[in-house]
Amino acid sequence: MTDAAPAVATELPPPRPTHTTRRVNALAARLGARRYLEIGVQKGHTFRTVTIEQRVGVDPRFQFDTAAVANETTTLHAMTSDRFFAEAAGTRPFDIVFIDGLHVFEQVVRDLTNAVAWTGWDSAILIDDTIPIDVYSALPVQRDAIRMRQQAGGRGGQWHGDVFKIAFLIHDFFPFLDYRTIDGTDNPQTLCWRAQGPARTPVFNSLERISRLTWFDLQAHGEIMRKASEQDAIDLCAAAIGARR
Ligand SMILES: C[S@@+](CC[C@H](N)C(=O)[O-])C[C@H]1O[C@@H](n2cnc3c(N)ncnc32)[C@H](O)[C@@H]1O
Repeated sequence: MTDAAPAVATELPPPRPTHTTRRVNALAARLGARRYLEIGVQKGHTFRTVTIEQRVGVDPRFQFDTAAVANETTTLHAMTSDRFFAEAAGTRPFDIVFIDGLHVFEQVVRDLTNAVAWTGWDSAILIDDTIPIDVYSALPVQRDAIRMRQQAGGRGGQWHGDVFKIAFLIHDFFPFLDYRTIDGTDNPQTLCWRAQGPARTPVFNSLERISRLTWFDLQAHGEIMRKASEQDAIDLCAAAIGARR
């Protein structure tokens, strides 16, 4: 007879609420949101601290035990966002979508397009990492960003990818979305919501040109980001949605 094996700790480490948690929960309170989708969940620091009633998370490589978190109102899909929308998203719309998956423009275009299809007039969409910190951070391939910064004598592993182009795409080609880029506190993120308003005059009016924008173009056309404080962006979004109800 042998002694019983010591119990293996299966407890999930507690998540740390993030600045996104703060923004999403504030928005949810203002909008009365009941269904939340997060694309790109990783360790779940945001996902697990969002207090919306029904939560859906998508990530091909979750970095936590999803079985310990899933329940009747919280579902987790270990797959890419493309596959999720093709096979698992169902038909019920979401009130808030947080896009934080693959930080490459073409993928963010697909994620935003799908998010628009799976949301309604009372919904908000938040896109992560929309202002890169330097020219290297804006490169579409992460290892290139870090290597080239080092080659130029810089340090640090910051990488935002070329997600910033999505603001230019929204500005020129999604006239039914209003948006503000939250800047000043924590990581910049672009908040979008459906809006009927005066048509914007396209700046580039070329999908090809937008797909090739660089960090320098962003510096030259920074007004396209429509920067706002976190509070102002949330207030504007909530007011626009509230006015329609
Ligand atoms: C920056 S992390 C997400 C952080 C998380 N949203 C948070 O606030 O704590 C990005 C995640 O996106 C996931 N990812 C990469 N490609 C993806 C894709 N095609 N679809 C969905 N998620 C993806 C990665 O596996 C990674 O876990």
